[in-house]
Amino acid sequence: MELKEAILGRRSIRQFLAKQVPEKTIKEILKEAVWCPSWGNTQPWEVKIVTGPVLEQLKKENKEAIVSGKDPAPDIPMPENWPVPMKKRYANVGKRVFDSLSIARNDKKGRREHYADMFAFFDAPALLLFTTDKRLAVEYSLLDIGIFIQNFCLLAYERQLGTCVMAAAIHFPEILRRLCSIPDDQRIVIGIALGYPDKKHPVNQFERERIPLEDFVRE
Ligand SMILES: Cc1cc2nc3c(=O)[nH]c(=O)nc-3n(C[C@H](O)[C@H](O)[C@H](O)COP(=O)(O)O)c2cc1C
Repeated sequence: MELKEAILGRRSIRQFLAKQVPEKTIKEILKEAVWCPSWGNTQPWEVKIVTGPVLEQLKKENKEAIVSGKDPAPDIPMPENWPVPMKKRYANVGKRVFDSLSIARNDKKGRREHYADMFAFFDAPALLLFTTDKRLAVEYSLLDIGIFIQNFCLLAYERQLGTCVMAAAIHFPEILRRLCSIPDDQRIVIGIALGYPDKKHPVNQFERERIPLEDFVRE
C-alpha cells in the first residue's frame, strides 16, 4: 500500500466486527511502529495490549464509571476550553457521529448510550494503552507517543485493521492500573481501540473535514 493511500484512507473506526485480532499481528505492527523519531531516541513509551476477559472487565468498569457520574481523574488533564475555530470543529465531528447513528440533538438517551458505548471502546476486540515514565518531561513524551501512534494507526490500516485513538480510554486511571497492572510510576497517556472495521456501518463512513491550507499555513 502506498503511504499516501494509508494517510488519506485511515479514519477513526467506531464500530468493529466481532473478530479477534491475533496477538502476533499486534506485535508485528508495534515492531514496525517503533521506528519513529523520539527526543534523543529516548523511545519513552510502554504499551499494554489488553484483550480477552481483562478487556471485557475494563469495558464494563470504564462504562460504569462514566454512567454513574464518577469524576474523571486522568493522568493527562483533559482540555476544558477551546478557541472558537477548534470548538466548532470539535462540535462538527460530534454532530457527524450522532447524525450517522441517527441520534437526534434532543435525544438525550441516545446520546448517553453513545457515550457509554464510547467508554466501552466501541466494543473493540483489543485496546492498546500507551504509558510513559512519570519522571520524563510530559510535553516531549506526549509528542513522541503521538508520532508513534500515528505510525501504529497507519500500519494497522495497511493490514485492514481499524483504530480509534481514545481519550475516553484514560479518564479513570485507577481502573486501568488495577486491571492492567500498570505501575504508579507510569503516566497513562492514551488508548487505541483496535479491531476489524465494520466498513459498511454509517459511523465509519461519514464525510470527514480538514481545514484548507490557507487556514494553517502562514506566509
Ligand atoms: C488524542 C486523541 C483523542 C481522541 N479521543 C477520542 C475519543 O475519546 N472518542 C472518539 O470517538 N474519538 C476520539 N478521537 C478521534 C478523533 O475524534 C478523530 O481523530 C478526529 O475527529 C479526526 O477524524 P479521523 O481520525 O477519522 O480522521 C481522538 C483522537 C485523538 C488524536
